[in-house]
Amino acid sequence: SLTVTEISIPKTPTLPDAQTVTSVTHWTDRLFSFRVTRPQSLRFRSGEFVMIGLMGENGKPLLRAYSIASPSWDEELEFYSIKVQDGPLTSKLQHIQPGDQIILRPKPVGTLVLDALLPGKRLWFFATGTGLAPFASLMRDPETYERYDEVIMMHTCRDVAELEYGRQLVESLPEDPLIGEFVAGKLRYYPTTTREDSAQMGRITDNLTSGKVFADLGIPPISPDTDRGMVCGSLAFNTDMKQVLEGFGLREGANSDPAEYVVEKAFVG
Ligand code: A2P
Repeated sequence: SLTVTEISIPKTPTLPDAQTVTSVTHWTDRLFSFRVTRPQSLRFRSGEFVMIGLMGENGKPLLRAYSIASPSWDEELEFYSIKVQDGPLTSKLQHIQPGDQIILRPKPVGTLVLDALLPGKRLWFFATGTGLAPFASLMRDPETYERYDEVIMMHTCRDVAELEYGRQLVESLPEDPLIGEFVAGKLRYYPTTTREDSAQMGRITDNLTSGKVFADLGIPPISPDTDRGMVCGSLAFNTDMKQVLEGFGLREGANSDPAEYVVEKAFVG
């Protein structure tokens, strides 16, 4: 006779490296941010990224590299994402709700870290679109302000609405009970749009090469003696920025060989 052995299958299969979504904010029809629980053991350096995602229909995890947008002292993790309607991950990820689970591999890596830069006076953050994310972390890290006298955040998007996540974050910092005293008087913000009229316009590359940003901020041009840079955006932006910064005499650094600037590609689909 046939013996049937019963095995118990859990009703909701537990994802490997599962974390729980705690909040979601939709900024535009193309942009959203969300917060998740943080694994107890996860330590990271501001500016690093981790692999996050969802379980695919084939039962395999669908993961992409996402910069951690929250500071290392935060008890949750924050991410800032594009929504691509036919994107394999973001077409689904954009629908997450508080209480849902995502997969998060707790292995932070990346080149946009303070340790990859030599000491200096001014630190520049150059971002397009969701390339703001690693700087959302670095702007909230006290060490950023301990290492540099002045921090300048340049962020460029097509439209005003796409700047909003960054703008609200920057504007909240001087009043922040934890980080406010470090930020006050040291962080300068230079947002621009390229396709919608706003107070300040133009690509980051153009505003640097023309000298407009230096004139607007009343500061001397970028020099390898004083200035350090971190770049995060599309591949084309990163390539063009490397040329611009090399033109000012800055050299690309790495964790193992710190220099005057570092670059990382923002997640784009
Ligand atoms: P532009 O509108 O002139 O293309 P996207 O939404 O396509 O990712 O672009 C985000 C922002 O980055 C836009 O303001 C865009 O300007 C700008 N941008 C795109 N490519 C470059 C580049 N190679 N150099 C400087 N800025 C760029």
